[in-house]
Amino acid sequence: MTDPVIHAGLADVYAGTTAISRVNPDTNSLLYRGYPVQELADTQSFEAVALLLWNGELPTDAELEWLRVDGRPHRPLRDDVRAALDALPEGAHPMDELRTAVSVIGAREGEGESLHEGGPTRAENLARSLRLFAALPAIIAYGQRRRHGLDPVPPREDLTYAQNFLWMTHGTLPDPVVVDAFNRSMILYAEHSFNASTFTARVIASTLSDLHSAVVGAIGALKGPLHGGANEMVMHTFDEIGTAANAGPWLDTALAEHRKIMGFGHRVYKHGDSRVPTMRAALGSLVEHFARPDLLDLYEALEREFVERKGIYPNLDYPSGPAYHLMGFDTQTFTPLFVAARVIGWTAHILEQQENNTLIRPRAGYDGAPERHVPAR
Ligand code: COA
Repeated sequence: MTDPVIHAGLADVYAGTTAISRVNPDTNSLLYRGYPVQELADTQSFEAVALLLWNGELPTDAELEWLRVDGRPHRPLRDDVRAALDALPEGAHPMDELRTAVSVIGAREGEGESLHEGGPTRAENLARSLRLFAALPAIIAYGQRRRHGLDPVPPREDLTYAQNFLWMTHGTLPDPVVVDAFNRSMILYAEHSFNASTFTARVIASTLSDLHSAVVGAIGALKGPLHGGANEMVMHTFDEIGTAANAGPWLDTALAEHRKIMGFGHRVYKHGDSRVPTMRAALGSLVEHFARPDLLDLYEALEREFVERKGIYPNLDYPSGPAYHLMGFDTQTFTPLFVAARVIGWTAHILEQQENNTLIRPRAGYDGAPERHVPAR
């Protein structure tokens, strides 16, 4: 038998097709259902982009109304979820809280949820996806407020997704500059083809398990610092560096210690991440609004120094980390915000996988001990 060709990390392997988004590293472009993501971030609400990703077309007024009428009643934090969160040890990471909460919701959604024949239809799973999308902000906002000893703020049905999320987090009506930046970040984070967490969700869906199990697995994959955890790590890096003047010396030490600099590099984009300019512009508006030029100085200094030394460019997590900081989210909450957005991509992929399913089960080369036998006693 000839040795199999191994593609470490599945790099450059095409594991299937999708009609949901297209990443083209040669042209630095990302299309959602054919539309450039920058165009969507400039013109659409996160709700409209969710419907685009799920259904394939930008929504009609009637479809937006469906999302509003069927989704908004699911905004409040449910007692079963709150009880599960309260039972977790103090200091549990918010990603662990979120993973637990989605498990509880999945169990509540009940029997017959698995994707096998006779299981839920696409419409039923879409309705589950909508309920999950609507429920996540209250869980994330509750987590942040609980860590600060604050009572939860009930949601408001008259607010948009972005406004309501910020309202539940801070208990005040957010400034339009903040709402706009947050809405853009949600759109930019919503979908990115076969990234690690989405692929995880598709692997789970391919076994005909249920939608919530696939999302729970995806949350686990996103938590790691090589994936979604990076936006949180960017802020820790900024805290460590302190000021723009210290960026160069700090980087010299970090690179000498062979540290990965979070928020830089990408498995697919090697000439820059298509989403960064839009999020960088949103960060610029926030910096101006909150009069924090020091933060932008540090951002630019580290980027300049790193690109000069390594020729590796920032990814979306680099501008979104400091942007979420300025919006008043605590650092631990950044990756859960990524979940709130990416749940759209995950569920769209689960629905797509369900429509044309093949079990995902690769093979492995073997490099362990040769065949041997248990010694006779
Ligand atoms: N800091 C320091 N060095 C980096 C780097 C980073 N952020 N990203 C890549 N490199 C280096 C690698 O160490 C490697 O160097 P080597 O050839 O001397 O070993 C080289 O660049 C190639 O990178 P590689 O690790 O092969 O790229 P990848 O496609 O496997 O990994 C990431 C992509 C995203 C995992 C990687 O860039 C990374 O760890 N980035 C930081 C985490 C992050 O921001 N993740 C969010 C992604 S959206």
